[in-house]
Amino acid sequence: MIKKNLFDGAYDGSRVLVTGHTGFKGSWLTLWLLGLGAKVAGFSSYLPSKPCNYEVLKLNNRINNFDGDIRDYNSLSSAFESFRPDIVFHLAAQPIVRLSHEDPLLTFSTNVQGTVNVMHCIKNSGSVRAAVVITSDKCYRNVEWPWGYRENDTLGGDDPYSASKACAEIVFKSYAASFFSGNDSTRIATARAGNVIGGGDWARDRIIPDCVRAWSQGREAVIRNPNATRPWQHVLEPLSGYLQLGARLLLSDIASGESFNFGPDARADHSVGELIGEFMAHWGVCLMRHEGSKIKESSLLKLCCDKALARLNWYAALDFKETVRLTALWYKAFYEGKDDMFEFSIRQIGHYIVEAQKKMLNWSI
Ligand SMILES: NC(=O)c1ccc[n+]([C@@H]2O[C@H](COP(=O)([O-])OP(=O)(O)OC[C@H]3O[C@@H](n4cnc5c(N)ncnc54)[C@H](O)[C@@H]3O)[C@@H](O)[C@H]2O)c1
Repeated sequence: MIKKNLFDGAYDGSRVLVTGHTGFKGSWLTLWLLGLGAKVAGFSSYLPSKPCNYEVLKLNNRINNFDGDIRDYNSLSSAFESFRPDIVFHLAAQPIVRLSHEDPLLTFSTNVQGTVNVMHCIKNSGSVRAAVVITSDKCYRNVEWPWGYRENDTLGGDDPYSASKACAEIVFKSYAASFFSGNDSTRIATARAGNVIGGGDWARDRIIPDCVRAWSQGREAVIRNPNATRPWQHVLEPLSGYLQLGARLLLSDIASGESFNFGPDARADHSVGELIGEFMAHWGVCLMRHEGSKIKESSLLKLCCDKALARLNWYAALDFKETVRLTALWYKAFYEGKDDMFEFSIRQIGHYIVEAQKKMLNWSI
């Protein structure tokens, strides 16, 4: 059971539209919003994986479901007109770096034109009071320095995915400056996060999904960059940031047009090898093999989250071990097939809220 007064009760009874609700993050966000008492609608064009967390959680009959393509303005606009959301979380995207090399057209049209369409629907809707546009930590130009990127650092990105997310940020800024700057206008913000793990992700070319997919079928997992170091964070961490940001926008505490980073504690940087070792401590030891990658991996890119701390009283609630433990326990429960994964996932959100309360995070109290 999730208390509805979290996030200052901003979501209890609110109408929330989530684009990309059938995805890994979107399905967890939808579940959490339902727990907070929101009336949720989702807009997505496909199920991104098989299995798919949206289906595993059986969210279909709990929400208002729009099946459409964000590149099609009319289809998106009809969903806005029919549902009349108070707040929008825009997550729909082509989010895989490797696929962005294979299909840059799809990646740019989805992530850039799709964001233009979402911003335009928000502008033309008479109902939306706040919106959070989810981009990525990869929107920053990676100049390979060891400290965290701040919200006012230069945007950029060499691979098509990173570039598309930097473009989405520019689209957002243009709409913010041109149409959402007045005191009474809709309050909008972007949220940047990355290296997310957690149960329910089966995307290809992500390390934990690749491992559980292989291991659950008795195959060896292929590890491409065991020494690559990343600031891993549990999916509920950025989601709590998005929800806190959305609540502050709804309650008009935050000016329109701002961006916020959401990342883990600086000590959460660990290599892929360490991540897998920690995961196997809960899952059991499994086979793997090392294979080089043709695609250049960017070096460590981490975020400075001081702005989220100062303005939203947000910071990460979990350490690396707990992040990996929750992830492994979720997949174990799924593959053992004994638990109702809707209830199990609600319990994981409940556990996460307790961890946040121990850290005195405003949104959780
Ligand atoms: N998972 C991560 O580690 C991570 C890291 C940084 C940023 N992000 C961002 O978070 C968001 C969600 O990522 P995810 O991992 O949940 O992705 P996902 O692949 O699991 O889900 C993508 C969602 O977008 C929808 N979608 C894709 N193209 C669409 C289109 N043309 N029209 C309508 N819907 C479309 C899919 O149906 C699905 O619901 C994305 O914007 C992604 O770029 C994710």
